[in-house]
Amino acid sequence: MRLPTQLNDLDLTAWDTYEDLITDSLWLVGRRDNGSVHSAEYWGNFVPQIPYQAMRRFTKRGDLVIDPFVGLGTTLIEAVRLGRWAIGVDLQPSCVEQTRQRTRLTENPHRVQVEVFVGDSTHEEARLLVQQQMRAWGFEQAQLLILHPPYHDIIKFSNLPEDLSNAADTDAFLAAFERVVRNFAPLLEERRFLVLVVGDKYAKGEWIPLGFYCMERVLRNGFRLKSLCVKDIQENRGKRGQYSLWRYRALKHNFYVFKHEYVMFFEKLAQE
Ligand SMILES: C[S@@+](CC[C@H](N)C(=O)[O-])C[C@H]1O[C@@H](n2cnc3c(N)ncnc32)[C@H](O)[C@@H]1O
Repeated sequence: MRLPTQLNDLDLTAWDTYEDLITDSLWLVGRRDNGSVHSAEYWGNFVPQIPYQAMRRFTKRGDLVIDPFVGLGTTLIEAVRLGRWAIGVDLQPSCVEQTRQRTRLTENPHRVQVEVFVGDSTHEEARLLVQQQMRAWGFEQAQLLILHPPYHDIIKFSNLPEDLSNAADTDAFLAAFERVVRNFAPLLEERRFLVLVVGDKYAKGEWIPLGFYCMERVLRNGFRLKSLCVKDIQENRGKRGQYSLWRYRALKHNFYVFKHEYVMFFEKLAQE
């Protein structure tokens, strides 16, 4: 039998003092934590509590985190605050530039470094850039991979054809998502965690379970599922002030309004 290894800096003799750490699968996080230099203005970023929870549970100070869909850098900002090194990639140069500025403005009490690259995470070139940076810092592998892809075309992030939000259909989106998993999984240490944050979508009156489809793609690439958490979503900009309208539509058209997304935790299997 495999002995459990400690992936974090938690002192389990004081386990009952970690009141900020979530251990249940229902995440009622509420409003975003807008402390530090986080931005609420990017429609499509996740709340800082997600990378915070993942890093506290599944990394130690001085470990390395990779985020191939870095957006405005929520993961990297939390990494700096928590003393984790981190590398992000995004297709959009404006995201990369803003992430750079924000991480520079973040207080860095543990003197870690973070880097961010413009790149297509489905492509080998992006992985090579990340690998080069890892080697320059002396990391053989990373200790956490955080994936927060577009939820297909729910939000269109750019006009770039490589953007997952421009995938022609669900199959094309899933194929591109799987390419990102295959591209970055080799950089993750065995028995370490991949965190997937994703939600479902509607198309032509049908609920498309993107979350479960993406979960399948991760599982078939050398991972096992450790936890599937359901997190509340607060009104986003698109629906702000329109809740009554959505409630009416739900009653009329026999569906339920999305109020959740998934935070899934996978462990990379060891090669026997
Ligand atoms: C859901 S957002 C991530 C937001 C991020 N978690 C944050 O808090 O800011 C998805 C991001 O993936 C990027 N993206 C889409 N396709 C990509 C690709 N092929 N390679 C790299 N980034 C991509 C988009 O530009 C967008 O910024």
